[in-house]
Amino acid sequence: MTDLHSQKLTLTLQYPVLFTRGLFIDKDARVAPLLEPTRRKLLVFVDDNVAACWPHLPQWLVDWTGRLSDYLELTTVETVPGGETIKNDPAIVERIAELTRQQGLCRHSYAMAIGGGAVLDAVGFAVSIVHRGLRLIRVPTTVLSQNDSGVGVKNGVNRFGVKNFYGVFIPPFAVLNDLDFLTTLDDRTWRSGVAEAFKVGIVRDAGLLERLIADVPRLRQREREAEEYMVRRTAALHLEHIARGGDPYEFGNSRPLDFGHWAAHRLESLSNFHLLHGEAVAIGMAIDLHCAADRGFIAAEQARRICTALRDLGLPIYHPLLDTDFDAVLQGLEEFREHLGGQLTLAMPCPLGTKKDIFELPRDAVRRAVAAVRELGSHR
Ligand SMILES: NC(=O)c1ccc[n+]([C@@H]2O[C@H](COP(=O)([O-])OP(=O)(O)OC[C@H]3O[C@@H](n4cnc5c(N)ncnc54)[C@H](O)[C@@H]3O)[C@@H](O)[C@H]2O)c1
Ligand SMILES: [Zn+2]
Repeated sequence: MTDLHSQKLTLTLQYPVLFTRGLFIDKDARVAPLLEPTRRKLLVFVDDNVAACWPHLPQWLVDWTGRLSDYLELTTVETVPGGETIKNDPAIVERIAELTRQQGLCRHSYAMAIGGGAVLDAVGFAVSIVHRGLRLIRVPTTVLSQNDSGVGVKNGVNRFGVKNFYGVFIPPFAVLNDLDFLTTLDDRTWRSGVAEAFKVGIVRDAGLLERLIADVPRLRQREREAEEYMVRRTAALHLEHIARGGDPYEFGNSRPLDFGHWAAHRLESLSNFHLLHGEAVAIGMAIDLHCAADRGFIAAEQARRICTALRDLGLPIYHPLLDTDFDAVLQGLEEFREHLGGQLTLAMPCPLGTKKDIFELPRDAVRRAVAAVRELGSHR
């Protein structure tokens, strides 16, 4: 005799995403309502480059948790390596987990990660496997992590030379975006995060895209108002996509917010990570915009206009690897398919601000796109 239970679980997941400035200095009244009204332990991990740029941060944290002592008990503040280093070294994940044990954290305790996307990813992964998940408070400190990675539900580390080979979909307890942190980023890292804003505009919101293009001179200068609009609007669209896109844990084949990413991931690794993620995304988008124009989804002039805006912002739209290693770059299509599983599915703008899935990208079309971006990229 067989017995079949069709088990169905419905889970409502909810987390606040706060945008503010001077978070640890005077925003206690905005943070307190986001926490549980019970005193819980808090263990803080800080990106080492953030720690170097913000030397008063440890003292701010002591004072901040002191003022929020009805909610938080600060255990310790630990500095961790920033950038991809933290995601590449399994010993660091162990160290993070070990610290949570030494400090006696339980499932109701908070772990806070203050840093770029890499630190958020690695700390998020480590604390999500401790006791099957501590409460993670993210404090993203780069443009990319504030407008894209830090507000989402993914955590992970690299293993066996594969990006995000270990990872989990688990939402954070809260995201506290303090735009003041962005002031200490170097120009290159700052700009690379703007590429993700263009990506969201191209496949989800033509209004955002137009505003970004118009704002290029202001974004170049890192003007505060232009920066704030770009970060907040992009993050809002990202959140909306996760909440209402119908596939927050990416069970399907399509990932619209990975526009331009098949070539980007490949270029990142072929350049031995000399290209930053956002820089590689700018190049990947330049290629895919021309492929979209090739298919008649958008006008060739529109593709050129966006590429010119990216270039004027100071982002690369072409890299010599596209010619010297064309076949290796093209291999990115297969890797992309493998990563998502199932059928190759690429999101393309059709028209700008909306997306259409395509299921193949012919070699000749990519060749023509590379020729076009080579030409555009050489006009500085
Ligand atoms: N989880 C996701 O959904 C998701 C999505 C996209 C990307 N990512 C991941 O995010 C990572 C990239 O994140 P990123 O672009 O934020 O770069 P990053 O975390 O590598 O940070 C870039 C550099 O800036 C430093 N830094 C961070 N904040 C700073 C500040 N305020 N002032 C001075 N220096 C600062 C870091 O130490 C690092 O050296 C990649 O590992 C990528 O895989 C994750
Ligand atoms: Zn990206």
